Amino acid sequence: MSTGRELPDLFEPGRHGDADAEPGLIDFAVNVQPGPPPFVRDALAVRLGDLAAYPSARDADAAVAAAAVLHGRRTDEILLLDGAAEGFELLARLRPRHVAVIAPSFTEPERVLRAAGARISRVVLPPPWRLDASLVPDDADLVIVGNPTNPTSVLHPRSDLEALIRPGRLVVVDEAFADLTLGDDGRREPQSLADGLPSGVIVIRSATKTFGLAGLRVGYLLAAPEVIARLTAGRRHWPLGTLALVALAECLGPRGQAHAAGLAAAIAADRAAMVERLRAHGITVPGIPRAPYVLVEVPDGLGLKAALRTRGCAVRSCANFTGLGPQYLRLAVRPPGRVTALLAAWEDASREAARTAAAATTTGAHR
Ligand SMILES: Cc1ncc(COP(=O)(O)O)c(C=O)c1O
Repeated sequence: MSTGRELPDLFEPGRHGDADAEPGLIDFAVNVQPGPPPFVRDALAVRLGDLAAYPSARDADAAVAAAAVLHGRRTDEILLLDGAAEGFELLARLRPRHVAVIAPSFTEPERVLRAAGARISRVVLPPPWRLDASLVPDDADLVIVGNPTNPTSVLHPRSDLEALIRPGRLVVVDEAFADLTLGDDGRREPQSLADGLPSGVIVIRSATKTFGLAGLRVGYLLAAPEVIARLTAGRRHWPLGTLALVALAECLGPRGQAHAAGLAAAIAADRAAMVERLRAHGITVPGIPRAPYVLVEVPDGLGLKAALRTRGCAVRSCANFTGLGPQYLRLAVRPPGRVTALLAAWEDASREAARTAAAATTTGAHR
């Protein structure tokens, strides 16, 4: 039966992990934390009675101030977004002559800029996906890179990002998952450009992942005021609703940041344990994962994904990521109990695949 909303094919750029996270499956496909946390829920609940009113400048100012304080920037360097995804859409207003998209990475920036008619070059990094500024066309006036990158989980050093900066060029760093990154010394956001905000850089941030608010759409960006003026010329009035503004002020304020710090530490521990167990099971985890998800390389990614689904686990195929392909799967970092369930399903699927292959060989031999 048609639902009227057919899911894009696994190879199409518009397909994301949420399409895989069907009810009842253990979700390794979507990198959103459970949430929202109680203090955010409470703050939202208090404001439900205000929804007859248009979003107020007071609420917008409070959210902007929280972002400015968090990053040590001026308020005119902050633009609130209806989710980080809106930031990519606004980039078209810069009318770039030549966009360079560093791949593999999140597919939305390329998709929306292509739809807006931009000329786009893909700069495909080979594993282990180290950034190399010399690969970017000299005339690219807009360069887009994710840090940490989705789905490779690579965290580029700040110096490699800064090497992309040129006169006449804007470098967009998608830091949607940066708030959950930790340095080896436990310091948060070791490679973020949000606080330093070098000239010529736009940093796009999200609060949907860490705070379990994907359904609310909450993000912001940091850029020079003149860049923000170009991004917002002609933007609709009231781009964010009252609840989104309230949520942003909470998430970016002290309580929200204490919550994010706790999560970052818990996820780092879960990721280390998960990677060790995956590798112990002979599963290839390329590179050094630094984000709340890990990439794995497998012989038959599409077959394995389907087999895991029938065994109760949803994983994200990387078939539609430029520079990757169906042999890669992305797994959200989950606590040990869920990883145990995934590995049990994986082993069962591998045993069945081996049985099927053996049966096919036998049948072939008898022909
Ligand atoms: C790397 C990356 N950037 C941005 C986004 C969009 O974030 P938001 O939910 O804030 O629009 C996503 C969503 O999956 C993402 O993976």
